[in-house]
Amino acid sequence: MNLELSPSVKYWSNFFHPILMWVLLFASVYAAYLGLQVQRTRNAQGEEKKELIKGRYNVRHYQIGSIILALMISGAVGAMAVTYINNGKLFFGPHLLVGLGMTSLIGFSASLSPFMQKGANWARVTHILLNFALLGLFAWQAISGVQIIQRILTQA
Ligand code: HEM
Ligand code: HEM
Repeated sequence: MNLELSPSVKYWSNFFHPILMWVLLFASVYAAYLGLQVQRTRNAQGEEKKELIKGRYNVRHYQIGSIILALMISGAVGAMAVTYINNGKLFFGPHLLVGLGMTSLIGFSASLSPFMQKGANWARVTHILLNFALLGLFAWQAISGVQIIQRILTQA
């Protein structure tokens, strides 16, 4: 299949995914901060707890988490589409595999939400482990992603 897109559309479509993913990387660090505040709120007592509850960290964490979930999945699928349109194939390399792995991880970790809200400790522990693994992979993915951009720029 050969889609008839103009060369400049094809070229510029390469930058959408990297920019989105950098934004999501910072959003994920912020989500981690909010999540840790949720934990602090749960463990705090007395006046401190009252103060922390006012921060509505649980609501804000859930909201930003949902946005990250949606954009990470569509961002990964979109990158595969762009790669296919530009090259007629996917590159079966670490960035693709880690990307698909991350997409699965975040789906799994988000699906634990109703269980965490019921107070299940196993769900919380699993959520935290999965998401800190996700952050580590994200940092790595940013490095391999920038290497891909450098390749695209030197080809042009
Ligand atoms: C800051 C981080 C990232 C950068 C700079 C980056 C950069 C890139 C670039 C330049 C491409 C080539 C396709 C295109 O130009 O659109 C690409 C492909 C891809 N990226 Fe990323 N990416 C990053 C993070 C991620 C993350 C977090 C995921 C998944 C959750 C992901 C999944 C993919 C996938 C699945 C492909 C298609 C690879 C292929 O088929 O060869 N990327 N990325
Ligand atoms: C980078 C990603 C994320 C990190 C680092 C992270 C981290 C955390 C942490 C540390 C907690 C606190 C657990 C506790 O109370 O001890 C938490 C709770 C929670 N997270 Fe996440 N999370 C992330 C993404 C998500 C996503 C994608 C969703 C769902 C869409 C989500 C939904 C929740 C929910 C519902 C809770 C329970 C809040 C409550 O107790 O009311 N998180 N997360």
